[in-house]
Order: sequence, then C-alpha cells, then structure tokens
Amino acid sequence: MKKALRIIHEEHRALAAMLGGLRQLVEGIEKGRMKADFGLIGAMIEYIDKLPEKVHHPKENDYLFARLRTRCAEALPVIERLEADHRRGEARIRALEAAADVFRQGGEIAFPAFHAEVLRYIEEEWKHMNAEEHEIFPLAEKHLQDEDWAAIEAAFVANDNPWEGAAGEYAQLFSKIVNLAPPPIGLGPGG
Ligand SMILES: [Fe+2]
Ligand SMILES: [Fe+2]
Repeated sequence: MKKALRIIHEEHRALAAMLGGLRQLVEGIEKGRMKADFGLIGAMIEYIDKLPEKVHHPKENDYLFARLRTRCAEALPVIERLEADHRRGEARIRALEAAADVFRQGGEIAFPAFHAEVLRYIEEEWKHMNAEEHEIFPLAEKHLQDEDWAAIEAAFVANDNPWEGAAGEYAQLFSKIVNLAPPPIGLGPGG
C-alpha cells in the first residue's frame, strides 16, 4: 500500500478504535454494567469530532481527492458523495452532542435516544471509511501518477497526524480517554 494511503488507513484505525470504545460504553450503560460518565462521553465525542475535522478530512479533500479528481472521472461520483459526508460532519457531531446533553439532563429515560444516535453515527462513519478504503484506494492506486503520490506524501508529512507532531494533543486526548474508560474499553477505574 502507498505510504499516503497507509497514513489515511492508520487514522481510520484510530477513529474506529474510538468509535468501538464508545459503542462498548453505551452497551455497558444499557446493560447496567457501566455508569454514564459524561466526562468520558464528552472526551470521546471531542476526539471523534476533532481528529477527522482537523487532521483527517484535509488530507482527503485537499490532496488525495483533489489529485484523483484530475486523473479519474470514474472516481468523481464517489468523491462527491464522500465530500458531502465531510460537509455534514459538523451537523452530525452537533446532533450527537445534543443527544448526550439530553441524556445527561433527562437521565435513564433519555438513554435510548442517545444510544440510537450513537449507533447511527457509528454506522455512517463505517460506511464512509469503507467507501474510502474499498472504492477510493483502489482507484487511487490505479490512476495516480508518481508525481501525485510525491505531492500528496509531502503534504501529509507537513499535515498533523493523530499521534505525532503538532497534533500530539490528539494523542494526549486519546490517552486521557483510555485512562478514564473502564475496562475492557480502557484502563480506568471499573464501571
Ligand atoms: Fe473521509
Ligand atoms: Fe477517511
């Protein structure tokens, strides 16, 4: 796999890990095995908001998709769909935050709506990431030229990633969440 695609894939893995943790947390709350820790829920939502918005989507929109647009007409409908998803990201995360707020204020009776919103969010993210990996990656491997890869990789080195460099704050946020989250999600105190 090209280095640039591997970087995007690693960011998908980081995001998927957090979404998986959030899913386990809401399932734990539903079963009464875990308590609703709103500090933890808020930190998880912050991560799944900021990592894509600040670190990940710019790599896709401004570099990978931008280059692929010029090389492959077949990719255009998929790129349009994925960019539309990115534009809806803000509204989707606000809906998730709003559902968490209603749950925090309303208690148990408001949990099912929050649970449903979390599952819906995760489902949409999975679809989106799968389309990137299974539709865009193969077209990029096939159609992008050496000069495209060189330009994309140079930009990615300069762009933040979730674990290193100027974006180390996302690594710190990730660690904070791992330390707050109860086992088996993280290393925090029991649920
Ligand atoms: Fe994307
Ligand atoms: Fe992505």
